[in-house]
Amino acid sequence: MNLITKHASDFGKENVETRAFPDGDAYIRILEDIESEDKGNRVNIFTRLYPEQNRRIVETILIASAIKDAGFKNIHLYAPYLPYSRQDKIWKKGEALSAKYIVNTLKDAGINTIHTVDCHFIKKEGVFKYWGMNIVNKTAAKRLIEEAKKDVSDLLIMSPDEGASYMSEEHGGKHMKKVRGEYVEGETAYRKIDTLEIKGNVDVKDRDVLLIDDIIGGGSTMIKAISKLKESGAKHIYIGATHGFFLGNSLEKLKQKADKIITTTSIKNETSVIDVFNILTEE
Ligand code: R5P
Repeated sequence: MNLITKHASDFGKENVETRAFPDGDAYIRILEDIESEDKGNRVNIFTRLYPEQNRRIVETILIASAIKDAGFKNIHLYAPYLPYSRQDKIWKKGEALSAKYIVNTLKDAGINTIHTVDCHFIKKEGVFKYWGMNIVNKTAAKRLIEEAKKDVSDLLIMSPDEGASYMSEEHGGKHMKKVRGEYVEGETAYRKIDTLEIKGNVDVKDRDVLLIDDIIGGGSTMIKAISKLKESGAKHIYIGATHGFFLGNSLEKLKQKADKIITTTSIKNETSVIDVFNILTEE
């Protein structure tokens, strides 16, 4: 049985209502007759957990818990982007290991498998077990590269840091090296980029380059990588990412600097041309 929220209505017809009570609490209602369904059947929940990640995680906990309470034991979550996946390490004493706690919370709600794309803490494609949860991690790298190659076939593929090197190197590409510094002051927990360099003996002069990454957040990584490549003589720069957050005015800034921007529909925006649910569900 597939359960689809309105956040995944491009995948199929919504059959789980997600609304809010007047005070803002999340309300969910499963519109399928789960009582008469065979409890041995697998239940797949399709949703997007971003934007409004805190609210959507709560909605998902409520949906899974209702299914679990009805007697289902095999509950899979299909979520293109897994929020909180960026904090999978403690940088400073006293921080929370957010990735683990969110995964644990989803597990407690009854979900036994998460299907996601380019999960930040996994950094490779495959099936893994993290904190007792099965995670099927797909990558959008091949699709992003194919899309960019529609314009230019002889592309040098590079990722802007080591974390995303699996997305480029599997396809004969290279990676850059990024070093982040301390957290900046203020409300936003953000670590500035200290350095971002081309690694090894890579000649980018007169090359058309596709920069590929799992996430474009505030865009600093891509902006710094583009500057470095241009200083080194690169001709055209294409950028591709699985999850295009484009925080602040970063999309406008990147449009000035890159020849083309390609993302998936994980986070819908004007650059998302690759169907993420297609990647998530392909065998
Ligand atoms: C981090 O290591 C990720 O792979 C991305 O490079 C990062 O999240 C991009 O963030 P931003 O666009 O804010 O530089």
